[in-house]
Amino acid sequence: MDSKTSSFLLPFLPSPRNARPYVTLTYAQSIDAKIAASDRKQLRLSGAESRYMTHRLRVLHEGILVGVGTGIGDDPGLNARLPDPVNSPPCSLPQQPHPFILDPTFRSPITSETRLIRTAAAGHGHPPTYLVRSDAVLDEDKLQILQSVGGRVIKIPTTGPRALMWDDILKAVYDTGIASLMIEGGARVIADVLREKAADVVIVTIAPVYVGKEGVGIDIDGEGERGGGGEVGGEGWLRDVVWERFGGDVVLGGRIG
Ligand SMILES: NC(=O)c1ccc[n+]([C@@H]2O[C@H](COP(=O)([O-])OP(=O)(O)OC[C@H]3O[C@@H](n4cnc5c(N)ncnc54)[C@H](OP(=O)(O)O)[C@@H]3O)[C@@H](O)[C@H]2O)c1
Repeated sequence: MDSKTSSFLLPFLPSPRNARPYVTLTYAQSIDAKIAASDRKQLRLSGAESRYMTHRLRVLHEGILVGVGTGIGDDPGLNARLPDPVNSPPCSLPQQPHPFILDPTFRSPITSETRLIRTAAAGHGHPPTYLVRSDAVLDEDKLQILQSVGGRVIKIPTTGPRALMWDDILKAVYDTGIASLMIEGGARVIADVLREKAADVVIVTIAPVYVGKEGVGIDIDGEGERGGGGEVGGEGWLRDVVWERFGGDVVLGGRIG
């Protein structure tokens, strides 16, 4: 790891937690605080240096989680490529984080062409785990494709009317043997995690671009998955804040609470 990346990340590296994984929430945003383009289209915001930092973070965590919106919209691989996240081959399998998709009703269109499936089949990443509500109906065809590459579905006890509790989500991840989890988005998951203070650390890349009002922001005090509530963002909310420049981007790191 180059010295700037390692000295920036050092204070935020995962440390053991009890009964839940250490959680790092990380995402990239524009100057006008958008994380995606209109219609929730994927937007490449990070430059080469901050993308490198993000892929370093991926290999430093045992698990990586995104919401079903990102799974469907971006068709992500959720594996790490270093030193060049665009052109390098994937890192070796033991270095790869285990992918988790938060998909309460199992609505992901899983086919043999889904990137997570192709990535696992090629040995370029671990098989994905889908986290669903305990009352989710599991489509047999999708389940079969998932299981053919070693993937699985985990049902999470469902207490609320719609959304799952982050304590339950994180416990389910921890119970699979994952002690550190990187949460990478998207907009609703980020807002939910911030609102519930479910992360230990936040690492945000700010890229020097404007997206405009049609872009997707993070609606922290909106309705949310569980009807809003919670206080986020006041003084003292983020501790040990550091800023570092990575190429044309600046990256903020801070500890929650
Ligand atoms: N800039 C970045 O760093 C970055 C990173 C990742 C993604 N993105 C962008 O973010 C956009 C996608 O964001 P999104 O808001 O549409 O989708 P998302 O946050 O990836 O997924 C949202 C969905 O996850 C499920 N979910 C979230 N919290 C839950 C909870 N507590 N319990 C149960 N289910 C929960 C819900 O599924 P149901 O609807 O099925 O209930 C919810 O609709 C894409 O445009 C993507 O490109 C940007």
